[in-house]
Amino acid sequence: MMANGVDPDLVAALRNARNVMVLTGAGVSAESGIPTFRDALTGLWRNFDAASLATPEAFRRDPALVWGWYEWRRMKALSARPNAGHLAIAQLSSHVEHLSLFTQNVDDLHERAGSRAVQHLHGSLHHPRCADCARPFSLPASAPVEPEGGRRLAPPACPACGGLVRPGVVWFNEALPEDILARAFASCRASDLLIVAGTSGTVYPVAQLPEVARRAGCRVVQVNPVASELDRVCTWNLRGTAAQLLPAMVSRAW
Ligand code: OAD
Repeated sequence: MMANGVDPDLVAALRNARNVMVLTGAGVSAESGIPTFRDALTGLWRNFDAASLATPEAFRRDPALVWGWYEWRRMKALSARPNAGHLAIAQLSSHVEHLSLFTQNVDDLHERAGSRAVQHLHGSLHHPRCADCARPFSLPASAPVEPEGGRRLAPPACPACGGLVRPGVVWFNEALPEDILARAFASCRASDLLIVAGTSGTVYPVAQLPEVARRAGCRVVQVNPVASELDRVCTWNLRGTAAQLLPAMVSRAW
């Protein structure tokens, strides 16, 4: 069923749900000024394809290019502020008996909006580690340096083993954190309502979660301005942005 506004059945489902799971993607941070993955990249990065920079092979081939790209993204994330969508999700936890929040995003805007126990399925820009010995690396608290020549920036060396420090994100051809993924599948099966916002639903295994939820009897509501791969498994497809529709859902329910 499609709905342009917030359907009364959805309002009732939200109000009556005891276990709510929220799954977010890049679209939730779009209105904070952070580009999504499948939008064309802009400025310096317009000739790059995000997927070609997000691989272990790309880092091995050209560590400074990949580190520069992630430092650019970390700069964008640090200068961005949570939007009304992030804030509405944080507010939900005060209304719902049990709320779990899983995100594919590597920024920390959910945390800065006040959400607790945010589960980062694809890692975080803010927790790099050594590519060789995996020891966590502490980034300076100050904003990152502008990459040299606008783009390349040599990654720091690990103080323990001298290896190159790499971004703490999950790249293509890498496994997701097993514990977080297992919790996401368990949460799908245990929830009454899954809210999926701002994801194209094209990257597995996360893209499987709405289907798993649906098969377990959980109803699924999607927030996205356009149709996505997930439309067919959702009970409600709300066409609009996260910053418009998530606050509208919360304020209609309580
Ligand atoms: P995508 O860039 O694939 O999709 C973003 C989705 O957000 C699209 O469906 C947009 O229509 C939608 N969108 C755009 N603006 C929105 C808004 N204001 N409100 C709500 N929705 C909006 O991003 P993800 O689905 O998050 O993985 O991408 C999944 C993964 O692919 C990423 O985590 C990353 C990437 O490769 C890795 O790096 C491993």
